[in-house]
This record gives sequence, structure tokens and C-alpha cells, in this order.
Amino acid sequence: MSRPAALNAEQVELIRSSFDLITEYSDSVIKLFYGRLFELEPAARGLFKISIPEQAKKLYDTLGLLIRSLDDFETLRAELAIMGRNHAGYGVLPRHYESLRSAMLWAFGQALGPDFDRPTREAWFQLLTAVSTAMMEG
Ligand code: HEM
Repeated sequence: MSRPAALNAEQVELIRSSFDLITEYSDSVIKLFYGRLFELEPAARGLFKISIPEQAKKLYDTLGLLIRSLDDFETLRAELAIMGRNHAGYGVLPRHYESLRSAMLWAFGQALGPDFDRPTREAWFQLLTAVSTAMMEG
């Protein structure tokens, strides 16, 4: 058992329960998220060759998998490193990970309102930071 060092058990629980809510609103969350991401990073739009709905599904499925595997983050690290290397090949820059994180937190906050409270937001911030760091290390 090893969670990302920055996350405690309570935060893992907050992430899991809020992800269930996000799943209920997934269509609108995805639109909000990509809209915000391309507002922050207009040039990143051109990096995506596949359609945004198709891409959204990949990102969403990967997040789901990550969240199910949070108790064993170390075994994910190698996969995240490979994914990160692929991302560098797509032209993704370190700065883009920060924009993704802020676009995602913003979209979740818009969709969930008061259910996306400060502790939940902090837990997601830590998760997205840990995932991005593991990808960039690749
Ligand atoms: C939390 C971090 C991220 C996750 C979990 C994630 C997930 C994924 C997944 C699962 C794919 C499918 C192919 C593959 O595995 O390489 C993918 C492709 C891609 N991602 Fe990400 N990604 C992340 C961050 C980013 C960021 C920050 C950007 C840039 C703004 C980005 C841009 C792309 C692009 C351009 C592709 C290729 C799309 C295509 O095939 O046309 N990703 N991502």
C-alpha cells in the first residue's frame, strides 16, 4: 500500500467521492474543462489530432483508473513515466500541466459548487500535482 506521499487516507476518500459526483455531470464538466484549458493555452488546441470527445474519454478513463489505484501509486509510476514521455512527444510542455490542473479544478468547482469544498479541492490539487510530476519525470 502506498498512496502518493502528499495524500492522506481522508484525501483519497474525498477524491473518490467527488469523482463519483463528477461522473454524474461528466458531459458538462468535460466541456467546461476543455473550454478553460484552451482559453489558458490557445496554442495547445493544435496538439490534439483526435477529436476532443474521444480525447476526453481517454483522459477520464485514465483518471478513473488512477483513482482506483491510489492505494498503490508506486506501481503506476512507471506507467505514468511512459505516458509523460509520450506527451513530450506530442509537444506537451511542463507549463501545460499547470494549466490542465487549474482548468480541471476550475471545471470541477463550477460543476459541483459547494460539494467541491476547500479540502476536496486541496486533495485534487495534490493528486494532479503528483500525477503531473510523475509524468514529467518520464
Ligand atoms: C493529468 C495529466 C494527463 C493525463 C492523465 C493525460 C492522459 C492522456 C491519455 C490517456 C492520452 C492517450 C494517449 C497516451 O496515453 O499517450 C493522452 C493523449 C494526449 N494528451 Fe494527455 N494527459 C494529461 C496531460 C496532458 C496535458 C497537460 C496536455 C497538453 C495540454 C495533454 C495533451 C495530450 C495530447 C496532445 C494527446 C494526444 C492526442 C492525440 O492523439 O491527438 N495531456 N493524454
